[in-house]
Amino acid sequence: MTLTVDEAGLTLADPRAYADDRRLHEALALLRRDSPVHRVEKPGYNPFWAVTRHADVMEVERDHALFLNAPRPMLATAEFDEINRQRQEQGVALRTLVHMDDPDHRVVRAIGADWFRPRAMRALEPRVRELARRYVDRMVELGGECDFAQQVAVHFPLQVILSLLGLPESDYDRMLKLTQELFGGDDDDFQRGTSSEEKVAVLLDFFAYFQKLTEARRENPTDDLASAIANATVDGAPLNDFDTASYYVIVATAGHDTTSATIAGGLQALIEHPDQLDRLRAEPGLMPLAVDEMIRWVTPVKEFMRTASRDCELGGVTIREGESVLLSYPSANRDEEVFGDPFRFDVGRDPNKHLAFGFGVHYCLGAALARIEVRAFFEELLPRLGSIELAGTPESVATTFVGGLKRLPVRYSLV
Ligand code: HEM
Repeated sequence: MTLTVDEAGLTLADPRAYADDRRLHEALALLRRDSPVHRVEKPGYNPFWAVTRHADVMEVERDHALFLNAPRPMLATAEFDEINRQRQEQGVALRTLVHMDDPDHRVVRAIGADWFRPRAMRALEPRVRELARRYVDRMVELGGECDFAQQVAVHFPLQVILSLLGLPESDYDRMLKLTQELFGGDDDDFQRGTSSEEKVAVLLDFFAYFQKLTEARRENPTDDLASAIANATVDGAPLNDFDTASYYVIVATAGHDTTSATIAGGLQALIEHPDQLDRLRAEPGLMPLAVDEMIRWVTPVKEFMRTASRDCELGGVTIREGESVLLSYPSANRDEEVFGDPFRFDVGRDPNKHLAFGFGVHYCLGAALARIEVRAFFEELLPRLGSIELAGTPESVATTFVGGLKRLPVRYSLV
């Protein structure tokens, strides 16, 4: 049966579509070709325009005065949008960098920006490498067979983030569970509950945890990122409690599932393209390019949204003030107009103008750290790897936001 553009549009709001690469990319390719800025009206969701071409995604991201992150920075049900709107009005909603626009965004982003600069990140590299080695050792201990997604990939980036924030290892399991509940929110394996109240409850738990941390770091500042956030001032005044807690939440969440999805998806891609694995082992100098190709290939962030601040034209379509556009990163990253043979996994792809980290003023703050982590992991793994193959069927998380593999059974020999 032939897919219509309306059916293709609906897949963008279907969490299960993101766990089925073929279905997703069939829909996205059709939209890119026939209706690149397409209105989606799905029961239970406020309408939005799906933006699927690389050039149009860039155009929206570039004009951050026209296309605002507030009040709808990502896709959620109409019920959740409403709860969020009420909480924003009461001043008790989560307000992270992705919820903000200028002038607040510029000021609040600057607080963490020094921490995340590539040069500062390079200073953290030895610690990241040490943690990467620890997880490759863990694969040896697991005896040649494991669920790489569950037993290795989810742990390493979370450990890096906790270490950066200065949180104790004893809080590790709690943070792992909370981030999975927050980002795997549409997947039965991770969900705490189905109602919007239960989703809000996950956010509030995060909040309570980080509020305590703020108090502790204000009393006893250390040199970790948590202290920098807790003691930051804007125009001489500290951030309010919600903005402070929100900062931790964005760093703890954004920095975790995204990178683990890339590492697991990158390994799957190498297993399924043995010629590319051989090439990378023969030419380790390709690693920086390979890392970006893994990030393009996986594209762990599926969308962000913007809302038009006035009537405008995009891709030949009129967008009215107050209407929202959904930026489809997986689609932009397979755009035939930009990538030669976009469905080929090529560890030497150069140039690679992928949009997996977004673009413009909201460009991923953690991009340099993410690249260091993925690189460190594969640079530790590959020289020790004998053979590797799938030992079962990989499975992905059902989500419309951040996701990737939740199971990657592998069999390997490793020294
Ligand atoms: C924002 C992707 C890793 C922290 C974003 C955005 C994307 C993204 C698409 C939104 C950009 C936009 O709106 O234009 C990714 C991917 C990652 C990754 C694919 C891994 C492969 C990280 C890490 C951290 C991090 C490791 C921090 C430790 C952030 C923050 C923002 C952000 C704080 C908000 C920036 C803002 O709105 O100004 N990321 N991210 N991310 N990311 Fe990442």
